[in-house]
Amino acid sequence: MLEAVRGLPNLEVRSLYDRYPDFDIDVAAEQAALACADLVVWLHPIYWYSVPAMLKHWFDVVLLRGWAYGEGGDRLQGKHCLWVTTTGGQKSSFAETGVHQVPFEEFAAPIRQTARFCGMVWERPLALHGAHVIPDDEIAAAAITFRDRLSEWSPDPQVASATRMPNDFA
Ligand SMILES: Cc1cc2nc3c(=O)[nH]c(=O)nc-3n(C[C@H](O)[C@H](O)[C@H](O)COP(=O)(O)O)c2cc1C
Repeated sequence: MLEAVRGLPNLEVRSLYDRYPDFDIDVAAEQAALACADLVVWLHPIYWYSVPAMLKHWFDVVLLRGWAYGEGGDRLQGKHCLWVTTTGGQKSSFAETGVHQVPFEEFAAPIRQTARFCGMVWERPLALHGAHVIPDDEIAAAAITFRDRLSEWSPDPQVASATRMPNDFA
């Protein structure tokens, strides 16, 4: 998924595990990068129904009160957030009758609300299920969808509102 978008114009890739192998996140650098962005993409595999530890730590130390939320914390207001994730479990397993017991959309809530609490506009997420078992051509197709979503993305409110559908996974 990452390789499909790397190199797109106006895209900065910030791989957190590469940058901060010791989890010592450069908060000022991350905030500076966020300040420049119109669209923030959170791309990660699902770990235990949530974000990996590094991204959770990034939320904890970068999205600070007075900067991202709370009094004076308006730096992310109006920016857009796109959540892109992959799961080992197949789509059918995220159902009452499946091993994960609830629809995948339910696991989006804390991530969606993190973005919204910081004033960001939640874009329609992209979720690729069954990453361990689906054929390579399905992974390639998802990667192209991801690349197209980034290439075609526009901060135009008319375009953005058409795609602003919480819980609608493509
Ligand atoms: C620590 C860990 C926890 C995981 N938890 C989940 C999970 O809760 N649900 C799920 O469907 N897949 C889970 N997976 C599978 C990953 O989501 C899957 O490996 C990933 O989306 C596919 O990307 P990859 O090819 O980079 O591994 C987990 C994997 C690891 C390593």
